Amino acid sequence: MRKYSKALSLVLVALLAVALVGCGGGTTTPTTPPAEETPVADYKVITEGKLTVGSDLDFPPMEMLNGTTPEGFDVDLMTAIAEEMGLVVEYLPPQKFDTLLAEVNAGKFDVVASSLTINDERKKEVVFTDSYFDSNQSIAMKAGATYSAPADLKGKKVGAQSGTTGEAWATENLKPAGATIVPFSKTSEAFSALEAGNVDAVVNDLPITADIVKQKAGKLAVVSEIPTGEQYGFAVAIENPELATAINEALAALKASGEYQTIYDKWFATK
Ligand code: ARG
Repeated sequence: MRKYSKALSLVLVALLAVALVGCGGGTTTPTTPPAEETPVADYKVITEGKLTVGSDLDFPPMEMLNGTTPEGFDVDLMTAIAEEMGLVVEYLPPQKFDTLLAEVNAGKFDVVASSLTINDERKKEVVFTDSYFDSNQSIAMKAGATYSAPADLKGKKVGAQSGTTGEAWATENLKPAGATIVPFSKTSEAFSALEAGNVDAVVNDLPITADIVKQKAGKLAVVSEIPTGEQYGFAVAIENPELATAINEALAALKASGEYQTIYDKWFATK
């Protein structure tokens, strides 16, 4: 069965309404000839009826595991988006962050939901949805440590998750000042290394670092907030842009209905 996008159906309904009103008016205004029903190219999903999601599930409070159950802001949002699309969400077990884009293109999952910053370099590889979250970078150190400028990290080790915009920022801004950038495959590993004293600082997205620092109760601190103005998007395979369009429609509906806000408040309400 052919499916049509919601937007197109609405347009068709509107056209029909106009046509009907036109008929009733008794005037001779020429009406648009009956619209040839042009099907909107359909999006593809790997498994019929399901939206299969790839994520590293190690980025609280956006995506993490509670036992073996994925949870977090992105997880709730992705679940609501799938529901809006009439699909059931299916999270794969934790995936490696720095191969997520290659794997979505390889057809391992339909969509990447991993607090992925939208940028031009990545846009060459995948198709992003509209943004769903704003973020900045940050530097965390042990509580009590001080930082005022990159030069303070001269000769120090700075951890970052491999393949992230935080790693890129550290390489661009701290390495020239004499810091050594230490890549970790997972964010949690970078913070464990910081706690253990194996690195002196961690560069990572601020909302996540703030959450982790809070959990570490007084042991770590955010020493610098870096206004990079990043925006997160979900990413789909380069040859499946129709899926991004469908996700955008669902996202817009969730924003309009207030459900997006409810999910936001669940994870970020300041209390
Ligand atoms: N926003 C950053 C980026 O896109 C970090 C994302 C890391 N996400 C994760 N789930 N570990 O590079």
